[in-house]
Amino acid sequence: MNTNLFDLSGKVAIVTGSGRGLGKAMATGLAEFGAKVVVCDRALDEAQQTVKTIKASGGVADATFVDISVRQSCEDLIKFTLDTFGSVDVLVNNAGIDIIKPTEALSESEWDQILDVDLKGHFNCSQFAAIQMIKQGKGGSIINISSIASVVAIQGLVAYSAAKGGINQLTRVMALEFASQKIRVNAIAPGYFENIMDGAEVEHEKPEKQQQIVTFTPMGRRGKSEELMGPVVFLASDASSYITGAVLFVDGGYTAA
Ligand SMILES: NC(=O)c1ccc[n+]([C@@H]2O[C@H](COP(=O)([O-])OP(=O)(O)OC[C@H]3O[C@@H](n4cnc5c(N)ncnc54)[C@H](O)[C@@H]3O)[C@@H](O)[C@H]2O)c1
Repeated sequence: MNTNLFDLSGKVAIVTGSGRGLGKAMATGLAEFGAKVVVCDRALDEAQQTVKTIKASGGVADATFVDISVRQSCEDLIKFTLDTFGSVDVLVNNAGIDIIKPTEALSESEWDQILDVDLKGHFNCSQFAAIQMIKQGKGGSIINISSIASVVAIQGLVAYSAAKGGINQLTRVMALEFASQKIRVNAIAPGYFENIMDGAEVEHEKPEKQQQIVTFTPMGRRGKSEELMGPVVFLASDASSYITGAVLFVDGGYTAA
């Protein structure tokens, strides 16, 4: 029996949008289990702070800029990773944005912004990472951060939900296409977490929103960012070696109720 199923030493992981929030927690978790981590964000100063945190607890990490909505930037990210740590074994597509507005008020450019980051950005990074993983010939793990909004309707999230629903299907199709190359592709779909996404603060301050979250989450609370460490390490590691094309809901039971 291999008791080191969760060991990530020797693996290189990229976590997009890891300058803050859930991405920062996942990058820290992957480093704690031995991965060398590329912390990348369009906020480079915040990415550098995450690297400091990881290094302070004995981990290995480096930071770089990325804007996942720009293809060239995603290609540069893979090149940076190879130059810095020599391979790409795990990609966590986490970077995301949110604009909360009713359908009739959402502009075309806001729709495009959300889809460019939350859907096209995941495709961009996955495509370049998968091409590199195929070249390396030793498989890999791609983990897309979806949301409960991929399967349940939440007011004001028309573009975000369309993107996240797309992420679930993109996950399944890539899982099928890359299975023979031993590249596993899975998604994590978080429910409501204590970290509020940039731009969603006003909505989440409303008492009726807070009530909705507590009422519809069977566990009766928001998740803590650290509670994504276990799921991401699981999907990145050999502990999930026969799992591909799955969407793992980490939502305190929200979608079960
Ligand atoms: N917070 C939640 O409750 C929650 C719930 C469900 C799903 N999610 C998903 O989890 C992921 C992380 O959410 P969060 O709460 O940490 O959000 P956040 O707003 O706190 O952090 C997002 C990070 O992504 C970066 N980013 C945004 N656009 C980028 C781009 N184009 N290129 C590179 N970096 C970019 C930001 O600079 C920021 O550091 C997102 O995909 C989000 O949709 C969050």
